[in-house]
Amino acid sequence: MRIDKKKIKFFEKTLADFFRKAGRTKLPWRPQKTVSRGTGKITAYEVWVSEIMLQQTQVVRVVDYYRKFLKRFSTVQALAQASWEEFLPYYEGLGYYTRGRNMLKAAQVVVQGYRGKFPHEKKLLERLPGVGPYTAAAIMSFAYGDNHLAWDTNLKRVIGRFFLGGKHLVTDEAWWDDKFATPKQSMNAALMDFGSALCVARPKCEACSLRSHCLYYQEQGKQEASNSATAFRASRIIKKKVDWNRAQVLLFLHENHQKYFSANKRQFQPFLVTSGYNTRAGIKKYFQERYGLTLSVRPPHQKQLRSDIPTLLVNAQILLGESKFAIFSKNDVREYNEGTLKKLPSKKLKS
Ligand code: ADE
Repeated sequence: MRIDKKKIKFFEKTLADFFRKAGRTKLPWRPQKTVSRGTGKITAYEVWVSEIMLQQTQVVRVVDYYRKFLKRFSTVQALAQASWEEFLPYYEGLGYYTRGRNMLKAAQVVVQGYRGKFPHEKKLLERLPGVGPYTAAAIMSFAYGDNHLAWDTNLKRVIGRFFLGGKHLVTDEAWWDDKFATPKQSMNAALMDFGSALCVARPKCEACSLRSHCLYYQEQGKQEASNSATAFRASRIIKKKVDWNRAQVLLFLHENHQKYFSANKRQFQPFLVTSGYNTRAGIKKYFQERYGLTLSVRPPHQKQLRSDIPTLLVNAQILLGESKFAIFSKNDVREYNEGTLKKLPSKKLKS
């Protein structure tokens, strides 16, 4: 398979730009210098501790464990001397028992077999209990500044999608290892962060700076992005769903639909009952307290948005008490309805 050199260049440059702007350089196992230049400002022991912890726990949770662990076991010698009981409180909650056991064993191997120095050779690192190709590559790259890609799932996903599209995973890692011109030790952190921020399982292609040359985007990301934009718009519409609990009420107070009552003497107007009283009981209370009238209130016969205000139209009759309101005809009410509907195109809702 041939990979276009220009495409590789674009990939490397875009990734470096991303990392400069948005890389997680503040993580304690990532002193900036180490990430950008591979100068070995972090020890192999520290990288190893962070990578073992990161294998099983989310980055944000690891930060605290990592700091406390290194405070208590600041060197591999200190760790190798620890009993299981001493070790456990600093590891508990991070993952599996076997991994913890391996960690202690590996520390003892490094002390006894390598005089307390993690070997500077990938194959030897891989022989330590609990250390696989990924962790070995991470140590080689982050601690020793060697030219290794640490192939974790993020790297496989980002590189795979960009160069191979959605249907192919990176399988032949060695083949890819020498396709890049940028020192790989400076690509690892950028690829990890890119894979965790944008090129996630459900990729955020709409925000991705690689997308113009990304095969995955051409094949399916574009469509997915547009689908999710549509879904987002739909969800906004749903979110904007009207809160009828806070509706105002327009109350049409009548007598057998022959006479209609209005507080405005010059022209018919329904009573406006504010949202604090918008239930049937609330409306009754409102009229009892204000006007000394006992009403029979019907359930709302319409729901409308009036100038975006949720509004319930409700009919009611007077059961007890004397009305002092002006009286209007059915026709006046019709005119009112037609007039306000013209002025305020009401959005009739179904439910
Ligand atoms: N930096 C170095 N190794 C890492 C990892 N496994 N996850 C996130 N950030 C890292």
